[in-house]
Amino acid sequence: MSTAEPLVLAVDQGTSATKAILVDVRGDIVAHGSAPVALSTPAPGWVEQSAEDIWESCRLAVARCLDGQDAGRVAAVGLSTQRESLLLWERATATPLSPLLSWLDKRTAQSPALLRAVDSARTVRDISGLPLDPMFSAPKAAWLLDHHDPERRRSRRGELCLGTVDSWLLYKLGGEHLIEVGNAARTQLLDVRRLTWDERLMELFDVPREVLPRVVSSQGPFPTAGGLGPLPDGVSVTAVLGDSHAALFAHAGWQRGTVKATYGTGSSVMALTSPDTPLSAGMCLTVAWDVDGPAWAVEGNIRSTGATLTWLAGLLGTDPSALATLAADSSDGVVIVPAFGGLGAPWWDDEAVGLISGVTLGTGAPHLARAALESIAFQVEDVVAAVEEDIGPVVRLLADGGPTDNPLLMQLQADTSGRAVERARARDLSALGAAHLAGLGGGVWSRADLERLNRPRDLYTPAEDAGSRAARRAHWHTTVRRARLRAA
Ligand code: G3P
Repeated sequence: MSTAEPLVLAVDQGTSATKAILVDVRGDIVAHGSAPVALSTPAPGWVEQSAEDIWESCRLAVARCLDGQDAGRVAAVGLSTQRESLLLWERATATPLSPLLSWLDKRTAQSPALLRAVDSARTVRDISGLPLDPMFSAPKAAWLLDHHDPERRRSRRGELCLGTVDSWLLYKLGGEHLIEVGNAARTQLLDVRRLTWDERLMELFDVPREVLPRVVSSQGPFPTAGGLGPLPDGVSVTAVLGDSHAALFAHAGWQRGTVKATYGTGSSVMALTSPDTPLSAGMCLTVAWDVDGPAWAVEGNIRSTGATLTWLAGLLGTDPSALATLAADSSDGVVIVPAFGGLGAPWWDDEAVGLISGVTLGTGAPHLARAALESIAFQVEDVVAAVEEDIGPVVRLLADGGPTDNPLLMQLQADTSGRAVERARARDLSALGAAHLAGLGGGVWSRADLERLNRPRDLYTPAEDAGSRAARRAHWHTTVRRARLRAA
């Protein structure tokens, strides 16, 4: 390595793109690279990606990021990945036998494995920390094995490997079948408290142990990062995290009462908790990371936040970012419940239907734009309130993700929540979190350094009076109840 200040490289493998960043010792991002990844939808509800394309996108993003940089200064590499998505490959040749079944994929909603598990839903949640849902990896594992190894013979002989994206990338890098514990916690096959694959869950979903990766902590050293591009020999991947977990790490959200909300297609609201804290219905217990010991988090996943803006913008023939300018000062009673394909946390109601209510002859595009933005703030606050019920007072609400560039959305969030919102100015919080943890493992930063790293934020404070906030939220909840008529 050269004698110049070290740099940390991080790769965030996400659903629509792989991003790479280079971070200096002050915590500033000094270079970016990205490569898109395609999604295909071969049948209604099916959402797939090519595992080889994902691997290539990582190499391309790294090459683009390091273009013109001194790769010799890279001291450590971190990896954050989309979670729950799953694929099957041949152990001997690392050849994918299936595409990556995306976390967005719903083909298993009526699958024998999921239907079989319905009677044991309570047990599944108690062990795994997760409600039954096609989003998680276990029903995907059953589907993949049913199609490629129906008798489970090859699985039992250890010829096949199931893995999430982190697992696949680590296999491509070093040929070892591993999974980071936070990612493993989102498969629904892990005992979330013992951090081992659970016999009952494996039996329920008919997934032999031999086909599963070895669960490892979030800090390496993992295999060297040589396969990722123009990096010097011996530079290791020293951190692996689930993307949402990495964002929490980047926020330094390890104090009790600190909650982060990541805004993307959907949203993940997350805060650290203890594994023994009882959680309200609809909230997940997960492992945030294992860094000198495991840390647990409560998480609520909202299915449609940014996606609502994309949908409405498409309908109105405009751009999602233009909706803030278009939005009226009030929705005039119009409420959009964006239950496209059901509602996630805190309701987890697959039967909820999308709804636009309160429409009059005076309703125009500006009211719909306002209602779409409000729907995001309402949903995030519903989950933040559920987190507060579970862990006690929320002291800080931290926001990140593409849609947070929209100042109206951030102000609406502060008003709707009645809480100050601190928005991270950095765009790629997941990559940044992986960089922070990699730098910790690679000797670039100490724990104390991580607290001091540059984390510029914008502060939005509530400007709405409590009465008006309560009335708007009550109206929202009335409309959510209508959208959930079948649950009533
Ligand atoms: O749980 C799914 C999540 O990890 C996907 O994140 O950033 O790829 O949409 P993203």
